[in-house]
Amino acid sequence: MARVIVSTGRGGVGKSTFVVLASRYLKPPKLLIDLDPDESLADMLGIDLSQEGKKNISSALYDIIQENKGAGRTGYDLLSDVLQSAIQGDCLYRSPEFDLITLGTKFTVGCYCAPDAVLKDSIPTLVEDYEEVIVDSPAGLEHFNRKVVVDIDDLFVILDPSEKSIKHIKRVTDITRELKVSYKHLYLIGNHRFTEETEEYLRSAREAYLGKIDYDPDIRQYNLEGKPLLELPEDSPASLSVRRILVEAGYRIRDRNPT
Ligand SMILES: Nc1ncnc2c1ncn2[C@@H]1O[C@H](COP(=O)(O)OP(=O)(O)OP(=O)(O)O)[C@@H](O)[C@H]1O
Ligand SMILES: [Mg+2]
Repeated sequence: MARVIVSTGRGGVGKSTFVVLASRYLKPPKLLIDLDPDESLADMLGIDLSQEGKKNISSALYDIIQENKGAGRTGYDLLSDVLQSAIQGDCLYRSPEFDLITLGTKFTVGCYCAPDAVLKDSIPTLVEDYEEVIVDSPAGLEHFNRKVVVDIDDLFVILDPSEKSIKHIKRVTDITRELKVSYKHLYLIGNHRFTEETEEYLRSAREAYLGKIDYDPDIRQYNLEGKPLLELPEDSPASLSVRRILVEAGYRIRDRNPT
């Protein structure tokens, strides 16, 4: 049974960076899921999905509906079997180190319902093949409403040093309870903007605070140059912070030379 890890938090706090760095320390087989319409995770991992011949789920769904219109087959239920095989074939990027699947942008104006439903229905089968499933979320709380992933093992909430972030913790616990999104552990992580003093806020929180991710100038530089974060050196301060955080959360770490 796969362990499902979700990285969440407000905009720009470092959710995707955490997913990439955490994935360096977790053993394959593992699946990364990008729920952010921005689809930046693949870039941060150094993968060009279109060059690999892979589509996001929204595009696959759109194409299938267009192709089946002529045959009189429309509607999510009718196309469900076609969709499930498209997920495995057209959408799932596979590599020895990790697999990746991305949700993509909105399918129709104002609604993610159809691609969300496709991914949600596929998740129970998809995750069977993995030890770890690591989900990168879009900013904010709305992704919980979409209920794509409802059985979470470890929910990592990445925070910046602001009152809004502190309020965000309560919002996460409230919304997950209301929506019946379950998690076994909720862990708080301070991002690179925290100082010793501001960390005190998090230490006094009810939920488990696992530490902060150190500032790492290489991360900014790599992002600027479009270099994959997987190539960060082993002694990258941010990477070592994520390693420490995972150890703190009880994870068995797999050290390796990523290059
Ligand atoms: N440890 C760090 N040290 C320095 N800069 C960092 C660190 N972590 C992240 N950043 C910078 O913060 C910015 C946001 O990081 P990231 O994309 O991981 O955040 P995010 O929460 O996923 O953002 P979004 O809400 O847009 O998805 C990036 O420009 C990155 O360069
Ligand atoms: Mg992100």
